[in-house]
Amino acid sequence: MQDLQGKTAVVIGGGSGIGRGISLGFAEAGMSVVVADIESDSAERVAGEVRARGGKSAAIRADATDPSSLEALAEQATRELGAIHVLSNNVGVVIDKPLTRCTEEDWGWGIEFNLLSIVRGVRALLPHLRAHGGEAHIVSTASLAGVLALPSGPMMPAHLGIYTATKHAVVAFSEMLRGELEPERIGVSVLCPGLVRSNLGATSARNRPARFGGAMTEPTPPAPEIAAMMMPEERVGPVVVDAVRANRLHVFTHPEARPMVEARQQRMLDDFAFAAKARESR
Ligand SMILES: NC(=O)c1ccc[n+]([C@@H]2O[C@H](COP(=O)([O-])OP(=O)(O)OC[C@H]3O[C@@H](n4cnc5c(N)ncnc54)[C@H](O)[C@@H]3O)[C@@H](O)[C@H]2O)c1
Repeated sequence: MQDLQGKTAVVIGGGSGIGRGISLGFAEAGMSVVVADIESDSAERVAGEVRARGGKSAAIRADATDPSSLEALAEQATRELGAIHVLSNNVGVVIDKPLTRCTEEDWGWGIEFNLLSIVRGVRALLPHLRAHGGEAHIVSTASLAGVLALPSGPMMPAHLGIYTATKHAVVAFSEMLRGELEPERIGVSVLCPGLVRSNLGATSARNRPARFGGAMTEPTPPAPEIAAMMMPEERVGPVVVDAVRANRLHVFTHPEARPMVEARQQRMLDDFAFAAKARESR
């Protein structure tokens, strides 16, 4: 979708971190931006930043785990800023726990926020992306953890089993959806960021619903030397804009991660080679 000027984007989870970066990036590209978030103050703040830069924006409170809230978001967004052309699905939570200790509640929380929020966002917004009959685009946020599987160790200080499994699901969902929507001229991308400055630990902890155990103590923010290694979220926006314009499936913020993906793919190819050799010898 080359022409973004004057079109409207809805960014779900747009009030902080990567969603904020995407909101500012779309505004920079000339789009009107609906900033939707469960935290109204954050959504208002980002919408204010868009307006301060001369763009049109509306802040709407929405809960990405609640289909009726997402339908209401779509209606209100259309009323306030017109036909919707781009959906950015950005809600997620980080869960740091070894898989062998994860409970039913942990899995429910991870699947609901990291996968079903995206499925529901698409279900609620797709009729609106179709309604105007022009080009449209969906970009959902997964992670590098959607194309890599790094067990806890020197390279990975956390236990991201549920996170990794659910982010792989978002990548697969997006690839399958892309195939289904291609004939309708609706593009689909999946954003796979590396480390980006954000409030993910804190927003995950404070927005955990009672059905998954309720709010948790917020983790201490990363030390300044770690934070300094993270990409500023404002740099994610232009990466997403370029990918929407070029209709790329995978959207990578950290191309330097490629050797890790290649090494993983190679391990899979080695297993195919093993299987072929084993079959010959049977
Ligand atoms: N920060 C990173 O290094 C990184 C890397 C890879 C992927 N990601 C992914 O990026 C996405 C955005 O995370 P972030 O790191 O920018 O964190 P963030 O906490 O700064 O932003 C997430 C936003 O989602 C909102 N939110 C949470 N629950 C919601 C709900 N039910 N309905 C609506 N809004 C809700 C939060 O209030 C917050 O504004 C997540 O999917 C995360 O997994 C982050």
